[in-house]
Amino acid sequence: MNTDAAIVFGATGGIGAALINRLLQHASYRTVIGFSRRPCSSLCDRLGYYTFDPQQPDQAALRASIDRHGVTPRTVIVATGGLDGDGMFPEKNLGRVTAQSLLASFNLNAILPLMLVKACLPVLKPDANILVLSAKVGSIDDNRYGGWYGYRMSKSALNMGMKTLAIELARRKHHPNLLLVHPGTTRTEMSSPYLHSDTYFAEPDKTADRLLELANSELAQKHGQFVHWDGSTIRW
Ligand SMILES: NC(=O)c1ccc[n+]([C@@H]2O[C@H](COP(=O)([O-])OP(=O)(O)OC[C@H]3O[C@@H](n4cnc5c(N)ncnc54)[C@H](OP(=O)(O)O)[C@@H]3O)[C@@H](O)[C@H]2O)c1
Repeated sequence: MNTDAAIVFGATGGIGAALINRLLQHASYRTVIGFSRRPCSSLCDRLGYYTFDPQQPDQAALRASIDRHGVTPRTVIVATGGLDGDGMFPEKNLGRVTAQSLLASFNLNAILPLMLVKACLPVLKPDANILVLSAKVGSIDDNRYGGWYGYRMSKSALNMGMKTLAIELARRKHHPNLLLVHPGTTRTEMSSPYLHSDTYFAEPDKTADRLLELANSELAQKHGQFVHWDGSTIRW
């Protein structure tokens, strides 16, 4: 079985699309499988690309799409997520918070990634590396400025869900390594409105390179941790 394969969820996002490009340039990956809700514009032989419904990701259909390639992927990166749009707002204060916007943030940032990992777990290489993109603003310890209720709360919930899954996986003799990763501030559609002249940010290609370096390193000791792109620990 070919393990030289990678899966990217959120393949048409800023970081997700850069990951796909970099993976296709990476000599050690023969197959790259991308999933997104939007169709992909550029296809090639080594890229399998599938759309899915983020409201109700069909577990069997996702698995069947991966199975079609006859691979047991060694790398998975979940790069879906969002701060505003689709019923979500970057709420500056409680007055802006609504139950609907919180639910939309939780659906996208906390529930969807867990369902995506659930769907692909059975078809992965036993010691695969799974990186789930979280955000440092989901750290309760690090919350010094407030604001962004829905995004912060849903990323904290994502962290809790994945940490719980990591504990469950660790009971197996062989298990994939699951990490929550802050990719670093990156200029994408999501972040661009919030970048100021003094903000340090990376371009998506740079972030993709950093994430792939992490994904291709020995991560057994970091299983279940919340880390920066360079592997350094972030307090919960
Ligand atoms: N950029 C940063 O500075 C930064 C910093 C910290 C953490 N992150 C995290 O990194 C990840 C990628 O972010 P990005 O900067 O690449 O953002 P982006 O360019 O806005 O891409 C977001 C991705 O999420 C998908 N998505 C957005 N809303 C969705 C919805 N309602 N339902 C289903 N899918 C949806 C998008 O799908 P479509 O392509 O189909 O729209 C896209 O694939 C996110 O988890 C984000 O929280 C980013």
